[in-house]
Amino acid sequence: MSIDAHDFAYVRTLLRDQSGMTLEPGKEYLVETRLTPVAQQSGLASVHDLITRLRRHAPNALHRKVVEALIIHETQFFRDVHPFTTLKTAILPELIARRATARRLNLWCAAASSGQEPYSVAMLLGEHFPQLANWDVQLIASDISDTVLELAQQGYYSQLEVNRGLPAPLLVKYFHRQGTKWQISEQIRRRVEFRHINLIQAWSLLPPMDIILLRNVLIYCDVETKKTILKKMRQLLQPDGYLFLGGAETTLNLDEGFTKVQFERTVCYQLRP
Ligand SMILES: C[S@@+](CC[C@H](N)C(=O)[O-])C[C@H]1O[C@@H](n2cnc3c(N)ncnc32)[C@H](O)[C@@H]1O
Repeated sequence: MSIDAHDFAYVRTLLRDQSGMTLEPGKEYLVETRLTPVAQQSGLASVHDLITRLRRHAPNALHRKVVEALIIHETQFFRDVHPFTTLKTAILPELIARRATARRLNLWCAAASSGQEPYSVAMLLGEHFPQLANWDVQLIASDISDTVLELAQQGYYSQLEVNRGLPAPLLVKYFHRQGTKWQISEQIRRRVEFRHINLIQAWSLLPPMDIILLRNVLIYCDVETKKTILKKMRQLLQPDGYLFLGGAETTLNLDEGFTKVQFERTVCYQLRP
C-alpha cells in the first residue's frame, strides 16, 4: 500500500529541510520501499506509524535515519572517467607547476558517498604524481551520511563494486581480499580525510580549495539550494582552482560567478575573472 498524501508531504519537507534533496511528486512508492525497513527496525508496523512517530518529535536520530534511507548514494570508482583523465593530463600538471613553491594542494570531494570518488583521486595522485609525496596534500572527503562515511573509512568493497570502473591493475596494486570483500590499502586510505559535512548547513573550517568535486548531488536539489551551495563553493575555490560537477549538472543560470572550461570531453568550472 502506498503512503497517503499527508505523510508524503511530511517526508518531502523533512528531506528538503535536512538535506536540500527534493522528492518529486509520484515518488510515494520510493518512500514506501525505502522506509519499510526503517519502520521494521524501529519495531513499528508500517511506514505510516514511523511517520507518525517522526511528527511527534523534534529532529533526532530517527529522522536522520529516515533522511539517509531516502538519499541516493550511487557511486563508482572513476565514475564517468573523463574528469579523471583531465585531472591527470591537464589540471594537476598545471596546478602542480603553479604551486611548486608553496608545495601545497587542497582537494575536496564534497559528496563522497562510500569513498569510491576520493579513493579514485587518491590512487590517481599515487600513480601519476609521485613528486607530491613531499608536498602538503590535503584530500578531504565529506558527506551528510555517517553510514556511507563509515563504509568509506573502512574501505571495504564488494566484487561488484570493484568491477565497476576500477582498472584491474589498480585492483591488484591497491586492494587486498578480505573474505568476500576487497579492502583498499592503508596507503591510499591514509591519503583521505573523511568528514561529516552537510552542504546546506554551516561547513566545518575548510582551507581554500584547488580542486572541488561536487558531483551528482546538485541534481537532486531545488534551484535555490543549488544557488546557495554554488555560492559557498565559489567563496572557497582558489582563483585558479577548478570545480567539477556531475555530467548532468551545470552552474549555468545558477551562478554567474563561474565560467565553463572545456578540456576535450570534460567540462569543469573556474571563477569568472
Ligand atoms: C549520488 S551520490 C554521488 C557520489 C559521488 N560524488 C559520485 O558522483 O559518484 C550523492 C551523495 O551526496 C550526498 N548528499 C546528499 N545530500 C547532501 C548534503 N546536503 N550534504 C552533503 N552530502 C549530501 C549523499 O549522501 C550521497 O552520498
